[in-house]
Amino acid sequence: MLKDKTIVLGVTGGIAAYKALDLTSRLKKAGANVKIIMTRAAVEFVSPLSFRSLSQNPVASDMFEEPKAWEIQHISLAKAADVFAVVPATANFIAKAACGIADDMLTTTALATKAPLLIAPAMNTAMFENPATQDNIEKLRSRGAEFVMPSEGRLACGDTGKGKLADIDLIFWEIARLALCPQADLTGKKVLVTAGATQEALDPVRFLTNHSSGKMGFETARAAILRGAEVTLIAGAHTCPEVPGANTINVSSALDMREAVISAADSADIIIMAAAVSDYRPAKVSESKIKKGSGGMNLELVRNPDILKELGEKYSGSKTIIGFAMETDDLIENASKKCAEKHLDFIVANSLTTEGAGFGGDTNVISIVRSGGTARDYPMMSKFEAANIILTEAAKI
Ligand code: PMT
Repeated sequence: MLKDKTIVLGVTGGIAAYKALDLTSRLKKAGANVKIIMTRAAVEFVSPLSFRSLSQNPVASDMFEEPKAWEIQHISLAKAADVFAVVPATANFIAKAACGIADDMLTTTALATKAPLLIAPAMNTAMFENPATQDNIEKLRSRGAEFVMPSEGRLACGDTGKGKLADIDLIFWEIARLALCPQADLTGKKVLVTAGATQEALDPVRFLTNHSSGKMGFETARAAILRGAEVTLIAGAHTCPEVPGANTINVSSALDMREAVISAADSADIIIMAAAVSDYRPAKVSESKIKKGSGGMNLELVRNPDILKELGEKYSGSKTIIGFAMETDDLIENASKKCAEKHLDFIVANSLTTEGAGFGGDTNVISIVRSGGTARDYPMMSKFEAANIILTEAAKI
């Protein structure tokens, strides 16, 4: 996802410095070129060797240690950065950056860069709440710096309060958002995504459901946020971590999902229904646990509303409406039929019988099908990449 992106990661001297190792590893795994700058104090907390090993790049900390005679290192790092992140950032770094002080490798490079600046502070609560620190944060914000604010918790000094470094996952996704910002083609758009499996109760103990993990829908929501959209994610049962920045509404049954979708749809520009919605629900939900008898059991089911069809009938032509089709046979033919019946702009077909496609895994093999049967097939890719293909097609509409 971050292939061809250079993230310059500044690490300052706080106990949370070790958490920047995890961030370095996340960024590397996402394909980024990670260049680390450590302050002298940071080197006291974590060995540069650990950062060098994880980033597979030399670590800069000394202004006067030039690895290449023909380039001035702080300027070359400043120019190379697609995102300049400081994690963790001490009160001292924030104060210096706010005043434009450049007295070490990190502050000098921060002053020289034109890349988006992301700062994740971590410090003692009193230092964080001190008006001097708060003023410095505001000053940097007014110049365009972005902050991932610390959370509350027990701090290394023994105090409990605000100052704990924000979750690394949150910081990672903020960096990714800034790195991918030039592709923010969905800025100003409202995207409604559904994800996961509906659960249709039989009694207080049991329900009917399916194998959807929610990954395809969650990755779509995540990709839409990274491309600048305002995202509402309506999630049935799922196994995914939350998507930072999405307005997530958790639902259980198809009827719950319909209610949430219908009330959010009016304000959406693009609707993407990746959820696996049960077509049927038990005719009667028993209030107490159904006891087993001696023989078999017949279950009477009634039809659930087709949420996507309802949306297509109401909004076709005025909103971009995209469905998914999970098939086991005649993939393109069945998907194309659904696309026409539900009045969709296009439908994303995936087959349970194709390796690497469908439920549960991190990959999918999709075809984008339009009514009339025209289809474009894509090779196996991550669900995040598939989501971006879908969003690119949606943005064209
Ligand atoms: O969640 P994952 O584990 O990542 O798996 C992803 C996925 C396989 C669930 C996803 O890629 C997918 O194919 N989702 C749609 C599955 C499905 O229910 O397909 P369908 O052919 O039954 O439904 C067609 C479309 O109508 C879907 O967009 C569905 O959300 C919608 N629908 C279906 C029934 C219903 N009562 N109301 C609906 O809105």
